[in-house]
Amino acid sequence: MAPGGIGTVLERIHAAEAPDLADLEFVLRIADPVELSSLFHFADAVRHESVGDGVLLRGIVEFSNICRNTCRYCGLNRRNTRLERYRLTRDQILAAVRNIREAGIKTVVLQSGEEDNLDADWLTEVIAAIGRSVDAAVTLCVGERSREEYRAWKLAGADRYLLKIETSDPGLYRELHPGMSFENRTRCLEDLAALGYQTGSGNLVGLKGQTVESLAGDLRFFQRGRFDMISVSPFIPHSQTPLAGEPAGDLMMTLKMIALTRIVCPKAHIPASTAIGSLHGRDERPRALAAGANVIMPNFTPHLVRRLYDIYPGKTACDLSPEQRLAAVEQMAAAMGRWVDYARGDAL
Ligand code: 5AD
Repeated sequence: MAPGGIGTVLERIHAAEAPDLADLEFVLRIADPVELSSLFHFADAVRHESVGDGVLLRGIVEFSNICRNTCRYCGLNRRNTRLERYRLTRDQILAAVRNIREAGIKTVVLQSGEEDNLDADWLTEVIAAIGRSVDAAVTLCVGERSREEYRAWKLAGADRYLLKIETSDPGLYRELHPGMSFENRTRCLEDLAALGYQTGSGNLVGLKGQTVESLAGDLRFFQRGRFDMISVSPFIPHSQTPLAGEPAGDLMMTLKMIALTRIVCPKAHIPASTAIGSLHGRDERPRALAAGANVIMPNFTPHLVRRLYDIYPGKTACDLSPEQRLAAVEQMAAAMGRWVDYARGDAL
């Protein structure tokens, strides 16, 4: 099993066409501080070489929290009857998009729950209206839809699509997503890539029943999928879900996953996710940026509804203005010898 020191194993993973599962599991199990620091340095060097030192920004608008699904970890699940549901109007979305553009950010992420009644034509029109009013890349994150809908949105001007696999372990996937199918999710990812979207996926770390073996499988899934964007974030328990009493995902395991994701997918855009910034009530995003991440996703959801996009607790805490938050990100990057890159940041 995994002969050689940590350096040899990391080199082998980096060079491999398809990294060895035993090697990935070996790295996911390391706990020695010196080995951990070798891992993060290695990933940081790959990040520097492959995507450079700029930190890219994506402005998020969470335009609806209505959801048909019952994902066992997510606060937006339809069984959560305590949550007041909302959908922004086209004009509210456009106002948020203008705020993003005025902040100098050139990627807009439109995110929502998976709405049964989402009117695909309405979203097509929103995408087109964004194209007419600002110069920015449009990323969609609205879940599993038909190929025809994906095509219409692409034609309307959408550039990118995020659809996390959450876990690549089909058995675990089934347990966590009642009524959903792993096959349909991978079908969606294939359709999106075939339609020419810059496609993103990703996982959650620390899910009940998740093993080191299944996390290694996630890394293989990322590498095989040749995704342009990959989001790795820790599970955070939400009181109005069946996983309410479970422990949160481990920060160190999340950082190891980010580092390995960078090493197996050198050119991918990898966010230091909001969940990492919320995990222990302390902003750990700098540690993700130091372990391979190169993207930050500031939230531009209007204040009136922001607390209702309640996927997991803690993410609503930020009451700073856009200017204050961007200044904080600038500072975060500068403190690490990095800089904020205001480019669109397309797939490489
Ligand atoms: N903790 C952390 N992330 C979560 N997500 C959903 N529920 C949780 C949770 N409890 C993430 C999923 C989804 C993204 C929009 O939010 O990965 O893809």
